[in-house]
Amino acid sequence: MTLDLLDAATFASGHPFELYRELRERDPVHFNPEPDGPGFWALTRYDDVYAVDHDFQTYSSGPTIMIPDPGPGGGGTLGEATMMLMMDPPQHTQFRKLIRAEFTKPAAAERGTRLNELARQIVDAVIEKGECDFVADVAGEMPSYVIAELMGLPLDDGRELYKLTEIIHSDPKALPPGAGGEAVGKMFAYGMGVIAEKRARPADDLATRLLTVEVDGRRLTDSEFLLFFLLLIDAGGDTTRNLLAAGLVALKENPDQLAWLMADLPGRLNASREELLRYTSPVIYMRRTAKKDAEIRGQRIKPGDKVVMYFGAANRDPEKFDRPDALDLSRDPNEHIAFGGGPHVCLGQHIARLEIDAILTEVLTRMHDLDIAGGPEWLPSNFISGPKSLPVRFKPARRAAA
Ligand code: HEM
Repeated sequence: MTLDLLDAATFASGHPFELYRELRERDPVHFNPEPDGPGFWALTRYDDVYAVDHDFQTYSSGPTIMIPDPGPGGGGTLGEATMMLMMDPPQHTQFRKLIRAEFTKPAAAERGTRLNELARQIVDAVIEKGECDFVADVAGEMPSYVIAELMGLPLDDGRELYKLTEIIHSDPKALPPGAGGEAVGKMFAYGMGVIAEKRARPADDLATRLLTVEVDGRRLTDSEFLLFFLLLIDAGGDTTRNLLAAGLVALKENPDQLAWLMADLPGRLNASREELLRYTSPVIYMRRTAKKDAEIRGQRIKPGDKVVMYFGAANRDPEKFDRPDALDLSRDPNEHIAFGGGPHVCLGQHIARLEIDAILTEVLTRMHDLDIAGGPEWLPSNFISGPKSLPVRFKPARRAAA
């Protein structure tokens, strides 16, 4: 098979699991050419992805975690500032520390009740209609609201910002010329407004905190703030949405598994959500760049070489997971790598888990006889995997009489 991992068309029906399997078996350190670049090494084995993600001494997150090299001013930089996602320790450690407290498991747990309330409101808004687009109307609503609440922004603004992230994550070929850059510009313009607002009226939220914290005895510059802002909105948006939508597809395709889950939803949700994360792997890849000579499975890696970790392929590695292509909601242990690993391991993972649980609980208990009414049509992206839209039909559950 000679499919190109760079081409969004390769992901037109979701992750190319058959291609991943071939690569894992025959060419686990596969060289994928690039028409406008030097090409990259594609890793598809769990152990290799895990090792590279943890080895920041050899593999840098700079200049970018995307496969194409940034053009002038592009990628995760703005003036002198760099986005945390593209930093290496010790600078990365310093920046991550600035917002870490907001994302710990206990801090996330404090938001649990509010997240359940948001999930209820989201389902309330569509339940009587008996049909909706699950992606736009349910799955996408949650992360946009959550990020707005975290940052202390109006909920409707969260929704608008989230639409911009969708454009930013799309394959540029699927967009009108310049649309991606325009979306980043709008995001920064909005962020400048947030800076003005929060400086004038400080509040108990993450945006205010980012404007008052100090690194090396100084406050963050506007550019550093804007890159944090972009990262937080970007990272928590379509990842969570895609897990929910692709997860629903997986559950409907495996009715025995769905029945197992429904037999004890509160007791089985934890294991089920982890398996849905493994099975759907919303983030397709992260790139690293070799800083020095290295070797992976006998393949020489030279300084400057791009090394790309395919999380969805690692999560289906039979050397790590028994029956990797089966959705087994009771899987235990389940050391999936859908949230990555090493210093950059997903900062929002505890919040993401609560968001997922809240929505799944509402949907599975209140949308009865749920059917997927078409599609799914998958996102035109080689970076983020999930349905672009997912029409569903359902019957509202009748509440038990008091
Ligand atoms: C199902 C949902 C999610 C998935 C699958 C996911 C996945 C990932 C992955 C794969 C990484 C890169 C890890 C690495 O390089 O090893 C990452 C980083 C990150 N994620 Fe998530 N994520 C999700 C939800 C969220 C949410 C809800 C937030 C915030 C509210 C968030 C914030 C971040 C941040 C800030 C980083 C960068 C961390 C760093 O550079 O140190 N993510 N995520």
